[in-house]
Amino acid sequence: MDWSPEALSPREAFQRPSFRTKTDKIFCQETSSAKLSGGRVPLCFDWRAPDMFPDLARDDVFRLETRRLWLRWPQASDARNLAALAGDWEVARFTAHIPHPYTLEDAERFIRDSRIGNSLGRHLRLVMTLKSGDRSAIGMIGVQTDDGSNLGYWLGKPYWRQGLAGEAVGAMIDAFFLVTKAPALTAAAMPENAASQAVLRRIGFRPAGEAPAPGRHHGGKALLFALDRESWARAA
Ligand SMILES: CC(C)(COP(=O)(O)OP(=O)(O)OC[C@H]1O[C@@H](n2cnc3c(N)ncnc32)[C@H](O)[C@@H]1OP(=O)(O)O)[C@@H](O)C(=O)NCCC(=O)NCCS
Repeated sequence: MDWSPEALSPREAFQRPSFRTKTDKIFCQETSSAKLSGGRVPLCFDWRAPDMFPDLARDDVFRLETRRLWLRWPQASDARNLAALAGDWEVARFTAHIPHPYTLEDAERFIRDSRIGNSLGRHLRLVMTLKSGDRSAIGMIGVQTDDGSNLGYWLGKPYWRQGLAGEAVGAMIDAFFLVTKAPALTAAAMPENAASQAVLRRIGFRPAGEAPAPGRHHGGKALLFALDRESWARAA
């Protein structure tokens, strides 16, 4: 996959601000490294190859370890836990796409989709499990690549405020920059989602403007955050 910047002049790039065109699939991202490092030129990338994650991440033996967590591929047996934890409105309300109510069938479908996408390298979705526990799912973290590289995560409410999301996000961004050649990772949070913004800022994401909010927040504005490869490498 070629991640080299596409040869668009700055003017051409700015004239195509809405990022991915339907026809040529060139992706331009104003929040990429040029902007974060003080430049004003959005970078554009060839987006024709959807298989961003390499073989290494496409097998379900792939896992990430943090001090207290394993991050692993979701399994059919996770459905009950995922449905119960993500079925809590307190968890779902700040996410764009978790349905509410969230049924066992929703969780089973999500797990199937996640495993298919993982094996194709289109995204990387991992469940969070506690190393000290029975390894059951306590949350999800993933990078979607259908429109840029976007980080998303949620944690079951009983596990909040222990720094676990920060650990999971740290491991995921390290893996993302190590196994892909992508130039930047973005994330979005609703303005009232202080916890998610705190997680992103602490790990090094910088504010990158606002965008129309997707999914259940349609009609509102989401705050965008970005972390470019150079900033990640400097902080590592
Ligand atoms: C966002 C979420 C994953 C954070 O998980 P967490 O493990 O509780 O977060 P952490 O313990 O790592 O806390 C990280 C920071 O957020 C702060 N924080 C946690 N909960 C908070 C809250 N309710 N309000 C304000 N700040 C909060 C912590 O104090 C900490 O700040 P610090 O780094 O300055 O010390 C969790 O609240 C969640 O799943 N929320 C629902 C789903 C969601 O919002 N997903 C993200 C969508 S963008």
